[in-house]
Parts: sequence; structure tokens; C-alpha cells
Amino acid sequence: SRVAWEDHADLVVIGGGVAGLTAARAASLRGMRVLTLSKGGPTDTSTQYAQGGIAVVAPVGDTVDAHVADTLAAGGGLCDEDAVRSIVSAGPDAVAALGDLGAVFDIGRDGAVARTREGGHSIRRIIHAGGDATGAEIQRALNAAGLPVLFGAAAARILTDARGVTGVLVFDHRGAGIVHTPAVLLATGGLGQLYACSTNPPGATADGIALALGAGAGIADLEFVQFHPTVLFAAGGVGRRPLISEAVRGEGARLVDSRGRSITDGLHPLGDLAPRDVVSRAIAARLADLGEDHVFLDARHLDGFADRFPTITAMCADAGLDPARDRLPVAPAAHYSCGGVVTDVHGRTRIPGLYAAGEVARTGLHGANRLASNSLLEGLVLGERAGIAAAVERGGLRVQVHDAPTPVLPRLERNALQQLMTQHASVVRDADGLAAASVALDSAPISACTDPASLEDAALTVTARILVRAAQRRTESRGCHTRSDHPVPDRAWVHSLEQRLDSAGEP
Ligand code: FAD
Ligand code: SIN
Repeated sequence: SRVAWEDHADLVVIGGGVAGLTAARAASLRGMRVLTLSKGGPTDTSTQYAQGGIAVVAPVGDTVDAHVADTLAAGGGLCDEDAVRSIVSAGPDAVAALGDLGAVFDIGRDGAVARTREGGHSIRRIIHAGGDATGAEIQRALNAAGLPVLFGAAAARILTDARGVTGVLVFDHRGAGIVHTPAVLLATGGLGQLYACSTNPPGATADGIALALGAGAGIADLEFVQFHPTVLFAAGGVGRRPLISEAVRGEGARLVDSRGRSITDGLHPLGDLAPRDVVSRAIAARLADLGEDHVFLDARHLDGFADRFPTITAMCADAGLDPARDRLPVAPAAHYSCGGVVTDVHGRTRIPGLYAAGEVARTGLHGANRLASNSLLEGLVLGERAGIAAAVERGGLRVQVHDAPTPVLPRLERNALQQLMTQHASVVRDADGLAAASVALDSAPISACTDPASLEDAALTVTARILVRAAQRRTESRGCHTRSDHPVPDRAWVHSLEQRLDSAGEP
């Protein structure tokens, strides 16, 4: 089909967060002509908002084995242990490389890099920046590296022939265009906008999942959507909600209900610092018992809160709350996609020339529930490795796109879709609710996507279908996937379910 513009690249990176920019840099350093696309601006990423920090093996009192063990324990039996070990082992070097780029991490009173604790970690190993502004510092350092990024450019379709990737269809201010390229890296982030309440920015619309499916790649573990236990409830409305970092509990804050009773006492040896799925489920159960819509995080007894958590203090002030004086109303909200595009630990998918890294990818690191602060780690490690893999494997290959058809996809209206998913596919699910969601999703009208907004709605709809299908099939409870009608883990389900589209475009 006719397009308004054409371009050529050795590698197209889709996404300007931690994974995309790390990959673009790695490939550029190896002589590749890299074009990075971002549908938003330089800080419209989840990376920008990351608070708690990066989980990375500490030089003293910690080991790779300990970090691996914590990751496996949080992952509910579904992690790929080899992938976990590979990624965790690469953490210290990846963080050092970020330091070389100019990222500055907080230093403790002893003069060493400060380390905090979060849910599921057996020791203090999480490094942070600006107190609770870790993501903003990483994004700043990566943006300052000066890599060329085409902002306001949305990838609409991955183009392939029998030998693999040939290009990308892109929508930007000039209209539809084609970039001829033998390699594409998906680094499009998460899918929080599937739900009415999420910590994710507005652009977290699962585009990479839909792009990968359209190209024939496999998707796994989407049923494991992680709900963060402590998202500020006072802000009201829908859209991006302010997060209260788990590091606040790491420094001693307590979760209580409206009557002042602990939410997690007796539930798990780590109490309020149990893995995230355990805490979110406990909150959901307590809220159901009490018929209420939020619990409280009590940080009033902590010294120096405003210095340690300046971002959170400012967000609370915006909501008329002072953590030194007020208990903070919180509730779980959609936060992170543990599943995604199936890759190896170098970001390779099953399609030659198609790579994925960061939140959009499913490497096997997270299993059924991601360990806190393992996401930035994965973005750094996989971004670097996928950028190198693309340079080594596709460098110098010349390809030509012959046809770039407009995507024609099922699409529900965004608010209706968010209500549907929030009602039927949140922290607790059952067969009836999932069936209702499935019927509504299957009846979504199909139409051509000719602008970025319709692409986003279609990506959300296609992804919701895959997610709900996986949640229906998994007749057990494991990690972030809780079925009230199948409340315990089932040994027969200790494996991931890879889904692809058939020739009719159905999962
Ligand atoms: P992102 O940083 O989300 O970047 C995605 C990019 O893709 C954006 O540039 C976007 O514009 C672009 N894009 C998407 N679709 C398209 C398209 N179709 N065409 C072109 N461009 C597109 N993790 C931790 O490890 N530690 C933490 O402390 C932590 N705190 C968090 C706090 C919050 C509030 C949130 C939301 C997440 C947090 N996470 C944390 C998770 C972590 O921040 C994210 O998983 C990670 O930053 C994702 O990085 P990414 O590079 O994969 O994607
Ligand atoms: C947080 O700071 O609680 C978020 C950490 C994460 O998502 O890993």
C-alpha cells in the first residue's frame, strides 16, 4: 500500500525506556544504524516513574544464589531457573555500565551504595536514586546519552517475509511510513491500561504484544498481571495512580485495615514484606470481608520520611496527606505484566530478526510473580544483550518491504474494556467472570486502524483476549493468578502456556 515516507535502518528499536535505550546504545556502539521510535515524549515511559530501585546482588553479605532463590520463591514455581541465574548474574555489570553513563545512586552513611529492602527479598540489596526517584535518574542518564529517537512515532505493524523481519509500518505526523529493516526490537513496556486503575502511564497499552502476535511470535504468562499492593487511593478517578513504593514497607511502614488490624499477620514469614501477590491477595480478601475499598499504610513512626521519600511525600501532599501525620489510604492496582513475548535470555523470539526486551518480554525471570525491583534489572540486562544479538545476527543484511497492509483488528472502546477487565480479570478471578469477559471480547467489532489511538485500543483488545484465554485455561491459583473456583496450585500446571494467533487471527 502507498505510504507518505520511507526510511532504512539496520535495527529499529520500538520504545524509549530502559530496555529500548540500553539496546539502542549497545547496537549503535557496534556500528549499527539504529532508529529508535517512541510514540510519546522522552519521559512518557514506566521507567520514568520507577521508585523503589534496582535489585542487584550486593558485594557484601549477598550472593547470586541468594538473589536467585528469592526470585524463584516469589515466582510460584514457574520461573526458568537458568534464565534467572543468567540475568541475576549479569546485574552488577549492568548497573556499573549505567553508572558509567552518569546515573548516580544514593550513598549510605557508611559511604557505600545505600541498599533498601522490598517484598520477597531476604536481604537489603535494592539500590536507589534520589530516594524514591530511581526511574527518573535512569531515564535522565539514558536520555542524556544523546541517542537519536523519533518521538511521536507509533509502530503499527511488524512486516515480515518467509526469511524474517523486513520492516516496520509507522504512524507519525507525516502520516503512515515504512522503515525497511532486517531487525526490530520490541521494548514497548507494559499493559496497565487494560485496567481502570494502574500505576502505569497512559502509553502502557500492550502495543508490543499485539505487534508480536501479528508477526507470528509466541506469548506466554499473560495471566500473571501483578497488582501492586499499595497504590494511593485518595487520588480518585481513573488513569495513572500514584504508587507508594514497597520500599516504604522496607523501611518499616505497616499495612492495617480501617480498624487498625494488621493485614498480613500470620500469613507469611515476611509479613508485610511478603511477595507482592500474597500481600495484594490479603488486601483484596480483607476489603471483601469489610465491604470497604481501601486499607491503610501507616508510616507515621518512621524518621526522616520526607528526606528518604521526596517523590512520595510530594504526591501525598497533592492529595492533602502528610505521611508523618496521616495514615495513607491504599489499594492494589494493576502494575506489571509478568508475561509477554516469549524470548531467550538474549531477547530472541521465534521470528528471525524480531527481538523483545524489558516489560514486554517473557524471558522466564518472573514466572508467576515478579520479585520487586527485578524489572529494571531485566530491562538493563536484556536491553544490552538484545542490542548485541541484533548487531551480530542481522548486521549488514539488506531487505526490502514489498507490501505494508494497514492493520485490521478487533477493537473495544477503551473505557468499556477497562471496566470489563477490572470487573472480571483483576486480583481474584473465576470461570463465570472470565467467560463473560471472553464473550464481550470475542464480539469486539473488527476495523482498520489508521491512527495511533485506534492502534492502542486494538492492542489492548487483542491482548485482553489472550490474557483472558490464558486465565480461563489455568484452572488453579498460582502467583498473581488467583481463581476463587480453583483456590490452590495444581501440579499439572507447573508450566507456561505459549499462545499464538492462528491463520484466522484467533488465539
Ligand atoms: P517503558 O519504560 O514503559 O518504555 C516503553 C516505551 O515504548 C515508551 O517510550 C513508549 O512510548 C514506547 N512505545 C510503546 N508502544 C509503542 C509503539 N507502538 N510505537 C512506538 N513506541 C511505543 N521496576 C523496578 O525494577 N523497580 C522499581 O522501583 C519500579 N517501580 C515502578 C514504579 C511505577 C510507578 C511503575 C509504573 C513501574 C515500576 N517498575 C519498577 C516497573 C518498571 O519501571 C518497568 O517495568 C520498566 O521501566 C519497563 O521498561 P521498558 O523499557 O520495558 O518500558
Ligand atoms: C516499588 O517501588 O514498590 C515498585 C518496585 C517494583 O515494581 O519493582
